[in-house]
This record gives sequence, C-alpha cells and structure tokens, in this order.
Amino acid sequence: MDEAFEGRVLVIANRLPITIKEVSEGDFEYNISSGGLVSGLRSLAKAVDFKWFGWPGIDIHRNDKDKVRHDLADKFNAYPIFLPEDLAQRHYNGFSNSVLWPLLHRMPEKVGAEESWSKAYQEVNEIFADNIVPYVEDGDIVWVHDYHLLLLPGILRARLGKKKNLRIGFFLHTPFPTDDFFTILPFREEICQSLLLCDVVGFHTQEYARDFLDSASVVLEGVSRSPSDLHWDGRKVIVHGFPIGIEPGDFREKMESDAVKQELDGLKNQFKGQKILLGVDRLDYIKGIPQKLRAFDRFLTEHKEWLGKVVLIQLAIPTRPDVVTYQRLREEVESLVGHINGKHGTFSHTPIHYLYRSIKPEQLCALYAASDVCIISSIRDGLNMVSYEYIACQNKETAGTLMMSYYAGAVKTLPSCIVINPWDIPRFANTIRDVLDMPQEERRQRYTENAHVVDTYTSVRWGTSFLNTCYKMELPKQTDGGT
Ligand code: G6P
Repeated sequence: MDEAFEGRVLVIANRLPITIKEVSEGDFEYNISSGGLVSGLRSLAKAVDFKWFGWPGIDIHRNDKDKVRHDLADKFNAYPIFLPEDLAQRHYNGFSNSVLWPLLHRMPEKVGAEESWSKAYQEVNEIFADNIVPYVEDGDIVWVHDYHLLLLPGILRARLGKKKNLRIGFFLHTPFPTDDFFTILPFREEICQSLLLCDVVGFHTQEYARDFLDSASVVLEGVSRSPSDLHWDGRKVIVHGFPIGIEPGDFREKMESDAVKQELDGLKNQFKGQKILLGVDRLDYIKGIPQKLRAFDRFLTEHKEWLGKVVLIQLAIPTRPDVVTYQRLREEVESLVGHINGKHGTFSHTPIHYLYRSIKPEQLCALYAASDVCIISSIRDGLNMVSYEYIACQNKETAGTLMMSYYAGAVKTLPSCIVINPWDIPRFANTIRDVLDMPQEERRQRYTENAHVVDTYTSVRWGTSFLNTCYKMELPKQTDGGT
C-alpha cells in the first residue's frame, strides 16, 4: 500500500460530486452524483482531506448562491463554481463533449463545430481559475482533473507563480490519442503548454502517457524526454500511468445488505435455468453497444442450441442527452434491440432486456452478482470501471467471467479477462459461446487473478500514489497498477 498523504490538497473537476435540485423557490436538495471520476475521488476523500471545486450542474438565483455555497462547504467540503447556463452549455455540450471527447477517443467524424464553443471553453477555464486562486496557499497541491479543464493548469501557474512550493497535478480520465488525432485540435499548442506547466501529468495507462509525450514533442519546440518525464522551458514534468481503481470493500459491504440479497433472489428466480450476459454502460458511442448487440444477434443465429437459455441484460445509463450524436446513438441502439428481440424472441422468452435509466446501487450490485459474464465492448475507453465493479461483486463460487475489449484501458490492468475485438463480429460471437462453455476451474482461476488486481490497486492507492508523486517529484518505487 502506498503511504498515506497528509498535505493540503485542492481537487478541481468539472463536475462536483453533488447535484443540486431546486425543489421549491429557495429550497434545495443535494444528491450524490455518479460516474467513474466522481466515485474514484469520493473514495479518496475518505483517506485524504481535500476541498473539491467544480460546476454544480445548474445556475441559481444570485440571492441563493451564498446559502448553497455555505451548505455545500459545510456538508460536503465542496465549493461550487457557478456558470451562466448558456456559457456552461457551450463549454460542456459544445467544446468538451462535441470536440474534445470525440478527438481524445480518436473519432474525428463525430466532431461538431461552432465557433463560440472554443471561446466558451477558454472563458470557463478562466472562471475556474478566478474561483480557485483565493483559496491557494504556499505548499498546496492543486490537482486538476479531466478534459473539461485542460487550460486551467497554465492559467493557475501564471497567476500563482509567487506561491512557494506550489505543486500542480493533472489527471486525464480518458485515453490520450496519437499525435495524428491530437494535432487536429484547436489550440493544441496552448493545451500542451498548459499541461507542461504542471509538475505531474497522469494517465490511466503507460500507452496514453507515451502518446502524450509524442504529441507534446510534435507540437512544441524544445521538448526533451525520457520514458517517464519531460523537460521543457527549464522545468521537469513527470508524465506517467496511474490507473485508477475502486474501493471493492464498499461493494462487498453492500452485497451483505438485505436490499441486495432481496434483489439477487428476485433476479435468480426470474432467470432460473438461463445464463445472464451483462452490459452496463453509459449510453455513449465509445462503449461499442451496437457492436455488442450485433455480436449477440450473430451468436443466437449461429448457435440455436442456446435460444431460450441465455439473456443479455443491457443497462444504458443516460448521459449528455442534449448532444446530437448521443441522440442518434440512442435511436440506433433501441432499433437494434427491437430488431433482435423481434427476430429471436418468443412469447415466453425475450433475449435482450434493455433499460435506459440509472438504477439504485443495490440493484446494480445484485445485477453484477447474478450475471455469468460481463461484456465490455468499448471501441475506445479510458480504463472502464464497470469491469472492476463486476469483479468486486463476484466471488470464488460464482466466478463470473469478464469479456474485455482490446480498446479499453483495463485490458492492460486486468490480466485474466477474455480479450475481444468488438469490430470482429463473427469472432466476438464465437467467443460468447466459448465463454459460456468455459469450465468452472478456468473461470475460478481467471476470477481470482482479476480480483487480486481489483483488491490491490484501489482508488485510495491511486490517489495517494499520484499525490505522493506530486509532493516528492519522484515516481513510486514500484509502478502501480500493472501497466
Ligand atoms: C467520463 C469522463 C468524466 C465524466 C463521466 C460522465 O468518465 O472522463 O469526466 O464525468 O464520463 O460523463 P458526464 O458528462 O455525464 O459527466
């Protein structure tokens, strides 16, 4: 276990871990938000005391701002950065999710373009800096997260140059593309300069770190590099893979609850005598949901002996519903589900159970525990936390199997998953059959090896390892996370 970390830390991420709802005029309800970044950092908060700055998702009347600020600081150690709605939309739906997100995932054909988006992006990064600067003290670590805030480290370094022993860290929760995709980006030089004004820049895998080092060397002059650091403009920057994790203990604890046991009994009863394949994904085009559905269709077509004996439960968690590419994906997925159920279903058997919504944590744990196989078919994915959560809810007896896309970062960290190419539908379909036929002994061995990783490389370990690297400016002795 990496040593605990005790310095003062400010965490900055686009989204606060809390969503605010105005239930009646001047009366607010606070709910915990979901997502890999939020849950990873929330677990870290148990081990490291940090202030969390971010956008609360809504703008509220100026008379209510102080009350909300007070509530959030008091109850959650969270500091909201309010943004005018139109600006927030152009930053979030516009530049962040319609330009950066597709390019970071190497999908230039999905990029949208509106001139006002890049200006909004720069403005929001400036507003974040305005809100954070008054809180920073000598010796602090300011840890900036994700693609919504790529320009923020550079702005903070310029404004906080006089602070003593200030460390700035940046962690990207997505993949980093190769330089032929990265160089498509508007203000690519500014993004690289900003990141190189950090002390530590972290990615989920060593491959993403290497791709960033390559891009920085292409875009900026005067960069000299070694495998895990870089020198530019008289400064040293550590660039390395720090794969995030989860807190498996939290899932196991939930598994013991009556609510989960009840849900699990219900599922076992409903799907008695059938194998369950599971997909849990935000409804995002990076997740390869159409590929998974087509492979399942092909599997049922080629292996009729399995008809009526296997179901695919696909949970599609709503995300970014205002972005047009996400609306089109929903239409495509729902039409495929209808087509496949119409083709292979009977009055007594529905092959795909599809839900477009979030479900309660207890229901999710039960679903993970009840499923024989979890299929991750992303066509590009930073790490993929669903795979870790699935393993955490299994045990040596159930020994569920993970099918993992070659294009998800977790393929590098979980050694014993079954690797699939989501583009190769015939082989993907055959692999579903092979996995369903896998002997119990092999399932158990693979589960045990994956569980060891999930138990060892937790989100607390990820966070303390990153922060200690910022603090000491040297890498931990043993590279974390098996990348
Ligand atoms: C990815 C991103 C996170 C983001 C999450 C959910 O994991 O790296 O920054 O919070 O997706 O997306 P959303 O747009 O709903 O916050």
